[in-house]
This record gives sequence, structure tokens and C-alpha cells, in this order.
Amino acid sequence: MAVDVLLGLQWGDEGKGKIVDFLADRYQLVCRFQGGPNAGHTLWIDGKKTVLHTIPSGIFHSHLTNVIGNGVVIDPITLMKEITALEASGNEVRSRLKIAKKAHLILPTHKMLDMASEASKGEAKIGSTLRGIGPCYMDKTGRNGLRIGDILSANFDSKYNALKEKHEHLLRLYPAFDFNLAGEEKLWFEAIQQIRSLDLIDAEYYLADALKSGKNILAEGAQGIMLDIDFGTYPYVTSSNTITSGVCSGLGVPPSCIREVIGVTKAYCTRVGSGPFPSELLDEDGNRIREAGNEFGSTTGRPRRCGWLDLPQLKYAAMITGTTHLAITKLDVLNNFEEIAVAEKYKLEAGDSENIPYDLIDEVKGVSHSQHKGWMRDLASDTYDNLPQEVKQYLKYLEQKLGLPITYISTGPGREELIVRQ
Ligand code: GDP
Ligand code: IMO
Ligand code: MG
Repeated sequence: MAVDVLLGLQWGDEGKGKIVDFLADRYQLVCRFQGGPNAGHTLWIDGKKTVLHTIPSGIFHSHLTNVIGNGVVIDPITLMKEITALEASGNEVRSRLKIAKKAHLILPTHKMLDMASEASKGEAKIGSTLRGIGPCYMDKTGRNGLRIGDILSANFDSKYNALKEKHEHLLRLYPAFDFNLAGEEKLWFEAIQQIRSLDLIDAEYYLADALKSGKNILAEGAQGIMLDIDFGTYPYVTSSNTITSGVCSGLGVPPSCIREVIGVTKAYCTRVGSGPFPSELLDEDGNRIREAGNEFGSTTGRPRRCGWLDLPQLKYAAMITGTTHLAITKLDVLNNFEEIAVAEKYKLEAGDSENIPYDLIDEVKGVSHSQHKGWMRDLASDTYDNLPQEVKQYLKYLEQKLGLPITYISTGPGREELIVRQ
């Protein structure tokens, strides 16, 4: 009876969805606790690709329940699209999905505000996914938001209209732009009507009972630690707490329940959107990683910025999250690199540092790297024992530097392309 947590240790897209799907067999519940449809978690099962935005990545397992927690922000249109697409390909969803009544709703005007705010920032834009995430969390903390539970109340429409009116007032501060609000609203209310028939619960009680009766929960993080609202590369972050403590506030479970924290990192590093990225490669190696790793956003299709693994960044993420185990993904993407580099230290005015400074843009003058011999061969169908020596050395080096065991090694997008070291 415990909650294990799975988090992205970088800037998102570490391959969290794949690892959650793999681990799901060990749990009775998988829960999303923060973020919203800015997330895109890709699962390849029996050669078929699914990208989940709001639904937890345990949905393909018949024995378990998936919970969308109170800390998540839900776009009804996206959620219903996801459910419909999963059902159309023969998957049972409704009996496996529960939604916290306290989860907040993304309105069409939240998306408009996101677009207007980003456009107004010009060069300084966050590079948001334009899914309305920031404005929705602003209404949550500003105590104006609408929640899933509200859709069951008789005066829901008037609550909606009051918030929409406030948004329209704010939108007048920005230049006008094209957006089919009436069309979006129609879809939004249709989706709300469908959500009324889903299992809407007091998730904190439900999860407390589950824990009491001995069930194990996997909390599935979205985004990554460097996008955390408090500890990420502010202001180039998302609007929720992506760190371990986000699980407690995003599900209503006490910190004492938390057992393992599985930190997921790629064998290199990517970032989509704006903001500092000290180990970014703007050369041919960056392009090679992007091509080999198919590094294009699962939610927006944008090319991801690519770079080498960044040890100060990973150490920081492991420290803040209390990571107990590492999962390293996309090792196969480096198959054809003769040399692999890792950023070991940041060059600051005052000298080299293994710590992340307050302002990564102004204070980091560069990084110093260590070099590692590549393995130059395919890793498909390897077990740990017959992995090339160079891979083992690379992994050992990371384990030593980070002081953490690498328990999961992913060598391809498929569910079975994973080596587990117990
Ligand atoms: P998430 O948001 O953390 O769940 O990650 P995304 O799904 O956005 O991005 C990860 C991408 O890498 C997806 O396209 C996955 O199918 C893919 N992927 C995951 N693990 C591996 C791996 O070990 N090797 C390769 N080549 N692709 C992987
Ligand atoms: P998953 O769960 C990668 C990034 C956006 C932008 C910043 C703020 O798939 O790993 P937002 O829409 O949240 O206001 O955007 O955060 N971002 C992600 N990058 N993976 C994600 O999710 C992301 N969710 C948001 O690109 O830079
Ligand atoms: Mg993703």
C-alpha cells in the first residue's frame, strides 16, 4: 500500500508514457496528478501508436483503474476525443477511468488567453503548447476557476458565462485575432454533456480507501522537473508543480505514502519551446540526434531542441525529487555516434560549477564535457548482460555521477524494448 511516483527529470518528453505502460502491471491504480493536455505521452503497443494527453498511461491494462487527479486541468474536448479514439479502436475506457471532481476545467477562452498572451510576448514567448494551461491555473490560484464537479450543478451555465465574461474583458487588452469561439463552445458543451456520464469522484477519499485496502498506486508525472513552476527555468516553465510534492497536492495523498520515485531521463537531452538549455547542440550532432530520435513534439509536432545529457541539471532534478531509481530511455538513438559527450560542469563567471545557478541565461557561459566511446551497433533484443561494453561503461559512469541505480533501460519505443535490472 504505497504510492510510487514516475517523473520526467528533464524538460519533458523523456518517454514517461512508455515506462508507465510497462510498469502498470505492478499497480492497481495509475493516476495523473498535474498538467493537462500540454502533455503527450506516446505508447506503442503491438505496433500501434497512441498519444495520450489527459488519460493516464495505464489505460490499456484491464485490471487497473486510471484516475485523473484534482491537480490536473482538463480540456473537455480533448478528453472526449481521446476517449472516443480509444473506444473506436476497441479499448474499454469508461469502466477503467475516474475523474476527480476537484480537477479544473480549461475553457475555450483559456486557450484564447494563452494565444493572446504568447503573441503579445514576441521574442520572449514561453513557447507554450497553446492549450490554455497557464490561464487555467491562473484562474485556479486566483480562485475563479470552474471544476469538474461544477458540471453537475444546476447553475453551471451561469458560472461558465461569468468566467467567460471575465476572460472577454481581459482579451480586450490584446490585439484581436481569429478564433472560432462559438464553434469551440459548441464542441465544449457537447463534451461536457458526455463527461457528465463518466465516473466523477471525490478522488481523495477514493485513493485513501484504496491505500487502506492495500492497493498500490503509480503517480504519472507530466512535463519534467525543469518545467516545474517553482524549480524549473522560470519563466520558461509550465504552470504546475511537476516535482514529487505535486503528487500530494495533485491527488490528496499524504507524503508518508510515497515509496519509490522513478526518474526518467533520455540518454541525451531535449527541450521543446523557449528558454535556457545549456547543453543544447546547434550543430550537426544536434540534427543527427533529432533525426535518429524522431524528436518532434507529440502534442504540437514542433521540432525538439537536442543536446547532450546535462549532469548538473540531472543531479538537481534527482535532488529535488528524491529520485530512488533511474529509467534511461532512447539509448538506441545514440547507436551510430562514435563519441558521446556529457555536460559535466557549467562555466560561470566565478569558475566551474556542478550546481545550477539562479539565472541560467545570464550566468552560464558554457559547459565542459566528458567524452565517452560510442558502441556503434544496434541494441535491439539485447539483455543487460550482452549489451556492448561501451553501453555498460556509459551507464556505470552515469550511475556513479548521479549516485543512483539505473533500473530501466529503454532501447526502442515498443513496450517490450526495455531492459529491467532488479
Ligand atoms: P513522454 O511525454 O515523456 O511520455 O514522452 P513522448 O511520448 O512525448 O516522447 C517520447 C518519444 O520517444 C515517443 O515518440 C516514444 O515513442 C519514443 N520512445 C520512448 N522510448 C524510446 C526508446 O527507448 N527509443 C526510441 N527510439 N524511442 C523511444
Ligand atoms: P510531456 O508530459 C515537453 C513546455 C512547452 C513550453 C512550456 C509551457 O509530454 O512531457 P504550457 O503549454 O505548459 O504552458 O507550455 O512547457 N511543455 C512541454 N514540453 N513535454 C511536455 O509534456 C510539455 N508540456 C509543456 O513546450 O515550453
Ligand atoms: Mg510528451
